[in-house]
Amino acid sequence: METTASKKLDTAFKKDVYDGLNACPKYLHSKYIYDKRGDRLFQDIMEMDEYYLTNCEFEILDSHKAAITECFGNGPSGFDLIELGAGDGKKTRVLLDHMVQNNVNFTYRPIDISENAVNNLTANIYKDLPGLAIQPEVGEYFQVLKRLQKYNKRKKVIMVLGSNIGNLPHPRAIEFLTRLASVLNNKDLIFMGFDQKKDPKVILDAYNDPAGITAAFNKNLLHRINRELGGDFDLDKFSHWETYNPETGTAKSFLVAQEDMEVNIEELTLSIKFSKWETIHTEISQKYDANTIQWLCNESGLQIKEQYTDSREYYRDYIFCKGSLFSF
Ligand code: AVJ
Repeated sequence: METTASKKLDTAFKKDVYDGLNACPKYLHSKYIYDKRGDRLFQDIMEMDEYYLTNCEFEILDSHKAAITECFGNGPSGFDLIELGAGDGKKTRVLLDHMVQNNVNFTYRPIDISENAVNNLTANIYKDLPGLAIQPEVGEYFQVLKRLQKYNKRKKVIMVLGSNIGNLPHPRAIEFLTRLASVLNNKDLIFMGFDQKKDPKVILDAYNDPAGITAAFNKNLLHRINRELGGDFDLDKFSHWETYNPETGTAKSFLVAQEDMEVNIEELTLSIKFSKWETIHTEISQKYDANTIQWLCNESGLQIKEQYTDSREYYRDYIFCKGSLFSF
């Protein structure tokens, strides 16, 4: 379990894989699921009946698009609509279409860790909404936050849809929200989606579909390590396992080794032993309730301005602004 001088951990991916597989218990970061293949699998997930999140947010955006647009405001100097984790931008399109039709003055700035996703999204918007000013960027949330500070000439609306924040455990979510709050000026807004606590069965089904799409999505981490780092994971020797704790609201994904094995990763000069039933923790998908959202806001210096939900109250989109010191 050591690297030779010739093989360096010269990318974040290599370093994170090395650290995660040497840790006890083992883990891998879910953000690495999203290469071209992972993006496609996630699109398949969004098409599944069990994965209610997408339809809920679609319903919310569609039924409240006028109110949301009004809340964003349409001042003479317009605003930057900065979307973190834009993905394929399908849900966002409901809002964008509405705003373009109503001559709202804004620039759309989609940002995603997947270059592939950003390219597809941009091509589609050029084609379908030629009138829309779009300025795409590739990058990670925390890195991109630094760049956000320079967008200070006009009002900002920072948008994070799809309950993407749910991949962060609470302390990191607070860190993220605090840093977002720190780049907000007084009139700037955050528009963010949070999947809500609900019947645990519904949540488990969303992350444990019988067709095995979520399993393939989860295993894409191993697939990517094989392809990009010269690994020899046998994907059939791992099974996808999902848990949901209704008390904490945390859904957790694991890959479970079906037998003793040794895996080699050439680019890391790394050989890793798995014993039968050993796990790799791969993802959390946090679910929220009103108290938790209020607590996150208090901890991050944010204030809830508006909230919108779907007919089943499965999901909520919030509008936050900078918290006032004097809001007793
Ligand atoms: C894109 C992070 C919101 O956690 O629900 C879907 C990813 N993982 N199925 C989520 C995911 C398994 C998704 N997010």
